[in-house]
Amino acid sequence: MPQITRDIALVAESLRSGGVAAIPTETVYGLAGNIYDAGAIDAIYRIKQRPSHNPLIVHLPNRAALDTVAKDIPALALALAERFWPGPLTLLLPKKDTVPDQITAGKATVAVRVPNHPLTLQLLASLSFPLAAPSANPFGSISPTSAAHVAEYFGDDFAYILDGGECRKGIESTIIGFNGDQPVLYRWGSLAAEDIEAITGPLQHITHNEQAPEAPGMLLRHYAPDTQTILTSDVVETVAAYADRKIALLRFREPYQHASIIYQEQLAPDGDLNTAAAALYAAMHRMDKAGADIIIAERMPDHGLGMAINDRLERATHA
Ligand code: TXA
Ligand code: MG
Repeated sequence: MPQITRDIALVAESLRSGGVAAIPTETVYGLAGNIYDAGAIDAIYRIKQRPSHNPLIVHLPNRAALDTVAKDIPALALALAERFWPGPLTLLLPKKDTVPDQITAGKATVAVRVPNHPLTLQLLASLSFPLAAPSANPFGSISPTSAAHVAEYFGDDFAYILDGGECRKGIESTIIGFNGDQPVLYRWGSLAAEDIEAITGPLQHITHNEQAPEAPGMLLRHYAPDTQTILTSDVVETVAAYADRKIALLRFREPYQHASIIYQEQLAPDGDLNTAAAALYAAMHRMDKAGADIIIAERMPDHGLGMAINDRLERATHA
């Protein structure tokens, strides 16, 4: 098992010598490596069992570093970076030739963000290169929001997990690209679309494409527990329909009593969708271990971070 540590210098040294390390961000933990080190990037794809056509996000220490990896940056992208970085917003921008094709899977764009976590910002500031970091989970499974989640997923595949506590946001960054000057939402995430639209005006949305996914986080099945999971707007009816099974129930605010429910959690007793987003993945990890035959998850309200939560629940429940 990788060593869980708070020693930034130790992790930095491992990354400088071509190693891979798990790092905390405000969204989820990432599996990080030097973007310019082909061996480190190969290792990330191998450890995650991630298909090589699925590009990685580049993590920068600050907005000024953007020019080292991106060019021809739309004015709107700069405005978004200024408003939301450090934070859970990833921008798809034309890449500089110096960014290896291995990072972008041959695409002309590079995905970039400045993560908002004090340890990782210190780590990035101490390195002379940006870090590529996909979420630190095996391809397709639930993303990790604690060092313990990462440790459970991996054996001796890499040396260190930098322990930054539980992720404050708990769902991946929102991904925005540009079609000319028109901003496009590629992935719902922990920055609400409404907050982005307050600056950009209405966003275009791109739809699922299983064959040639623009952003493979958009694959229809993803973020999935091992236990069969279904999503419903009507908990009472769905629990009744599966009453012959051992049920684990995931709800928004209130508990629900039924003899077939062997385990249940509420994401946000306070009714706040931010609370629910931060709690989602840890709850899904526990649901999956509850010994139930089926997980029944309640659909969240369709606004704010409810959009990102419902997106993840839909992918978790897709056959
Ligand atoms: O919050 C996050 O974004 C976390 C933390 C660690 O920063 N990272 C993360 O990485 O979620 P990952 O690899 O699990 O998801 C990145 C998504 C993938 O769906 C990938 O296909 C997409 O970003 N992506 C990366 N580069 C892209 C590009 N040039 N064009 C389109 N999609 C891209
Ligand atoms: Mg991921």
